[in-house]
Amino acid sequence: MTVESVKPGASATTAPGEPPLAGGGVPLLGHGWKLVSDPLAFMAQLRDHGDVVRIRLGPKTVYAVTTPALTGEVALSPDYIIAGPLWESLEDLLGEEGVATANGPLHRRQRRTIQPAFRLDAIPAYGPVMAEEAHALVERWRSGEALDITAESFRVAVRVAARCLMRGSYMDARAERICADLATLFSGMYQRMVVPLGPLYKVPLPANREFNRALADLHVLVDEIVADRRASGQKPDDLLTALLEARDEKGEPIGEQEIHDQVIAILTPGSETVGATVMSLLLVLTEHPEVGDKIHHEVETVVGDRPVAFEDVRKLTYTANVVTETLRLYPAVWVLTRRAVTDTELGGYRIPRGADLIYSPYAIQRDRRSYGRNEEFDPDRWLPERAKDVPKYAMSPFSVGNRKCPSDHFSMAELTLITAAVASAYRFEHAPGSDARARIGITLRPRRLMLRALPR
Ligand code: HEM
Repeated sequence: MTVESVKPGASATTAPGEPPLAGGGVPLLGHGWKLVSDPLAFMAQLRDHGDVVRIRLGPKTVYAVTTPALTGEVALSPDYIIAGPLWESLEDLLGEEGVATANGPLHRRQRRTIQPAFRLDAIPAYGPVMAEEAHALVERWRSGEALDITAESFRVAVRVAARCLMRGSYMDARAERICADLATLFSGMYQRMVVPLGPLYKVPLPANREFNRALADLHVLVDEIVADRRASGQKPDDLLTALLEARDEKGEPIGEQEIHDQVIAILTPGSETVGATVMSLLLVLTEHPEVGDKIHHEVETVVGDRPVAFEDVRKLTYTANVVTETLRLYPAVWVLTRRAVTDTELGGYRIPRGADLIYSPYAIQRDRRSYGRNEEFDPDRWLPERAKDVPKYAMSPFSVGNRKCPSDHFSMAELTLITAAVASAYRFEHAPGSDARARIGITLRPRRLMLRALPR
């Protein structure tokens, strides 16, 4: 593969140069076809061409950042904001006033509003719901029938996020409707991102009608949840109360549209990422039965005969390391984009104002330069004496900086509890129709997992 290499030229006398152009582009499409046909392999080999590499998507130049240190620099620098094709494709769903897409002062205010609901000391209050939902999975899987793990994983993710962050008995029935709507929307969004046909998605074909119906229903649902909470007069200590009580810069209550967009902007990424990770965890338990056996042993030792509870989580260190290793090899958020708001410099290269940047936690977290036996599933690499050797920013599945996932503690507690509950009750095997290949959409997850849960 050829690389049109230009050496970094940031010295006192020379202006910083253009990053090298990645090889393998074709006329008209540039590297776009590679990003569609085999995006994981494409992103993973870019570092061989440079620390920052130009790639062409049609007529457009995008800057790929390939080293842990520089991805950390991008995530921490105010010169880069949330924007670019990934985010534009999500705007229909996430709205324009939610925390996941806002920038600048609006984003800072929104983070201040939502942060308390995710703080480490707020998480124990969610423990009973997380445990109840984890044990509900164990109960549901007793039948011995083949399980559609895609549906099961997203269901538990939506139910935990909705019931913890918007408490109230009315959530139980609504959580089911949210699940059904989001399932339709997630698959439709993926298609809209990789095949951006714009107005053609407005043509009243059955798939488009179904997508639009789910989108409309989700918006109605969120309005109902907000109206019910207001009518109840209750103010439980949760995210919804924080949003309803929030004030803007002038001390005025925030607008209805912003409350609405905020609820969707938190529920949607929360459910999609946790759902994808639960699927990857179940794939790991299926393909590495010895990992499940060790979790079973750890739960027996720490918990004994009673059901595993939230309070046990911090003692389940092996189980937590299995979750971490799963997030390393199968990061649900496998690609991130940013836009430069000013002419700037990265790794000695010039990045022009308005440039789109792309980087991949998947590529960074599987890089042989950061990890020995990089493709191997090895939870013990997260033992403290070994984890200290991992280079800075080589493991950031929740990102870093001002856009870092607010839900890292919440998600780790939830995923560890679910993994402990299901692995201590079952071994898993593939059932007919299971397809464990990666499905690369807005998130990364196994394509279609059909599993049988075999009681221990
Ligand atoms: C942002 C990953 C779970 C809510 C992010 C980002 C990552 C991420 C990488 C940063 C995006 C960027 O830098 O552009 C994950 C993973 C999860 C997870 C791997 C689980 C395995 C959740 C959950 C929630 C949530 C459960 C909420 C219930 C959000 C929100 C943002 C975000 C609101 C936007 C933050 C901002 O822009 O300030 N997540 N997430 N995430 N995540 Fe998560």
